[in-house]
Amino acid sequence: MTTLCVLGLGYIGLPTACMFALAGHEVIGVDPSPRVQAALRAGRASLDEPELQTLVSRALHSGRLHVTTRPEPADAFVIAVPTPIQPDTKAADLSYVERAARDVVPLLHPGNLVVLESTVPPGTTRDVLAPILAGSGLQPGRDIHLAHCPERVLPGRILVELERNDRLTGGLTPECAEQAAELYASFVKGAIVRTDATTAELAKVMENTFRDVNVALANEFALIAERIGVDVWEAIGLANHHPRVNVLTPGPGVGGHCIAVDPWFLVNAAPEVAALIRTARSVNDGMPAHVIDLLLRLAPPPGPVALLGVTYKAEVDDIRESPALHVAELAAERGYDVRLCDPHVRPETPGLPAPLLPLARALRDVEAVAVLVDHRTFRELDPAMVAGLVRQRRVLDARNVLDRDAWRQNGFEVSVLGASALRVPTSA
Ligand SMILES: NC(=O)c1ccc[n+]([C@@H]2O[C@H](COP(=O)([O-])OP(=O)(O)OC[C@H]3O[C@@H](n4cnc5c(N)ncnc54)[C@H](O)[C@@H]3O)[C@@H](O)[C@H]2O)c1
Repeated sequence: MTTLCVLGLGYIGLPTACMFALAGHEVIGVDPSPRVQAALRAGRASLDEPELQTLVSRALHSGRLHVTTRPEPADAFVIAVPTPIQPDTKAADLSYVERAARDVVPLLHPGNLVVLESTVPPGTTRDVLAPILAGSGLQPGRDIHLAHCPERVLPGRILVELERNDRLTGGLTPECAEQAAELYASFVKGAIVRTDATTAELAKVMENTFRDVNVALANEFALIAERIGVDVWEAIGLANHHPRVNVLTPGPGVGGHCIAVDPWFLVNAAPEVAALIRTARSVNDGMPAHVIDLLLRLAPPPGPVALLGVTYKAEVDDIRESPALHVAELAAERGYDVRLCDPHVRPETPGLPAPLLPLARALRDVEAVAVLVDHRTFRELDPAMVAGLVRQRRVLDARNVLDRDAWRQNGFEVSVLGASALRVPTSA
């Protein structure tokens, strides 16, 4: 049994802290956020993630998860704090990692293990974290162990994947990788693969970049299909009959804390050679404006419009970097009277560009409905019910989740991203 201090109790740190506690470790969970503190002290999970409430309750009842605002001495420290990008320069903002590391410095003892779980630009553990920790007088790799253990869970399946996914432990030295592997073996059932810290950092960022570039390709296919009057969804289905082809799904863009962010870590690491990655970022970032183009064709402003979905993907409550949110912002800028609806998002959530309403109120008297997120509630929308509420029967499906024939039978004009056979004007 080890005493562990987990810094950052968000989507990654909270379930990880619970898993360690349930594996028998004594866990000090640290987060300065009053919202996180209030929820956990009341025994509630501070995030909406399947089964997380049960896991948090079990961990708290085990008596081995203690929640506090400041780190305390421990055998191992796990850092799972945010690593966003600067909105203007797209450079990694490592200030959270640096602050967490500085908080740990006075607590370090020989033999301690420090693990960075946050996704970071390659080289960060060695060139940023190690020098800060060395301020303790203890040398990482010699007196204390230091490793990067990236997290690759999928929101919506975090609990299952935390346990089952293969893990990388990237050590500053092979012994550091070994120490980290032994710690994670207490709950990880997948393979634990040892490597060095910088290779682990690169591998993690490559994984998200791979997704981003492939989504961008699917989105570019959708834009091309619209211009040549072909249904991209049918074409993708046909292409994917090829045994070595798997075109991903087009949509209004990509979001979340990872895929829209991490590729910039590679672009900035080697701008002169990262042309493909940079282009993929701009294709995906351009998709919300394209959705607005489709909406303009369907129903010009200022008519009231219902935008269904605010989160960055289905069945999560996370709106970080959400393309749907960006569509809503652009629609408001274009002068639409925007009504938002998302059953996974709390109405008091800061930063929403329009009121978040229950479904029936969002739909009432609107001149167009746009499905931006494929939450089950929206996939299963009854067109007859919607027809009874709206002023104009027009629907834009940016996810290809509606039964087009059923909606048309109910009198709707239907526009589908990638299948609208439009000569699309630019939004400029
Ligand atoms: N969310 C995901 O699906 C996912 C998947 C893989 C990797 N990651 C990476 O994991 C890291 C964390 O992401 P997240 O989604 O859990 O973020 P999050 O924003 O949900 O949680 C981070 C938490 O850290 C807290 N925090 C900030 N500074 C702190 C400090 N100095 N000490 C202690 N706590 C502090 C914040 O209050 C917040 O609650 C990021 O680098 C992210 O890229 C996330």
